[in-house]
Amino acid sequence: METALHDTARQLDAELREIDALPARLRHIAQAVPGRVAFSTSLGIEDQVVLAAIAAADADVDVFTLDTGRHFPETLETLDMSEARYGRQIRVVFPESDDVEQLVARDGIFGFRNSLEARRACCDVRKVRPLNRALQGASGWITGLRSGQATTRAEVPLASADTNLGLIKISPLGDWSLERIEAYADEHAVPRNPLHARGFPSIGCQPCTRAIEPGEDIRAGRWWWENAEHKECGLHSRPRAKGQAA
Ligand code: ADX
Ligand code: SF4
Repeated sequence: METALHDTARQLDAELREIDALPARLRHIAQAVPGRVAFSTSLGIEDQVVLAAIAAADADVDVFTLDTGRHFPETLETLDMSEARYGRQIRVVFPESDDVEQLVARDGIFGFRNSLEARRACCDVRKVRPLNRALQGASGWITGLRSGQATTRAEVPLASADTNLGLIKISPLGDWSLERIEAYADEHAVPRNPLHARGFPSIGCQPCTRAIEPGEDIRAGRWWWENAEHKECGLHSRPRAKGQAA
């Protein structure tokens, strides 16, 4: 079973590398992966470009975002703007209210500032579990990851087997540079989160994201009080048991 997933992913990766145009890549993903294909968007520039390509290809993809309850208002405005622009609904997935209440009762409303463990617990409740729930039953998971985005993301495959989730994880921008993404966004008048122009190249939750100074690494503003190797919320870096969210 796992071997079949790896084989399918390897084949898809090779096929995608042969396709240059982004909408054609998205069309191919939607056609080649049987069953539901879901795209998780954070509404950042990379994801906005993927969304534009999904819309241009009219690809059958379930687009969703994780509302952690701690987003910048600008991010929610970008969501609203994008739904209107592309005439597609972006499914908003929330954390379980019981989980959030227990977390806050235990750690406090800003508990994630107190330790790496508390920060990871918050990301787990507000992002990872809702992600697992949103992806249940999906065969393909599209992300906006790209190579070189972070020290933890040196080489991002275009398609790979996620054996924990039992699906194929696809990053159609895996081999794109930020410059190419920016150029695509300009050319296609892609709606942008206004925070990008105010020093926020990478945007997560409001209390855990700050603007960067010129010359700083583009993820320097994410969980800035932690070491670079810890700067992942668990969406892309931690083994997850299938069905853990239920
Ligand atoms: S994070 O792990 O550090 O938070 P990052 O902001 O770089 O992730 O985004 C990488 C990819 O993770 C995005 O392209 C998107 O697919 C997914 N992602 C991140 N945050 C969210 C979110 N709030 N909702 C849905 N997907 C998200
Ligand atoms: Fe919680 Fe911060 Fe993680 Fe958002 S980024 S889920 S506020 S710890």
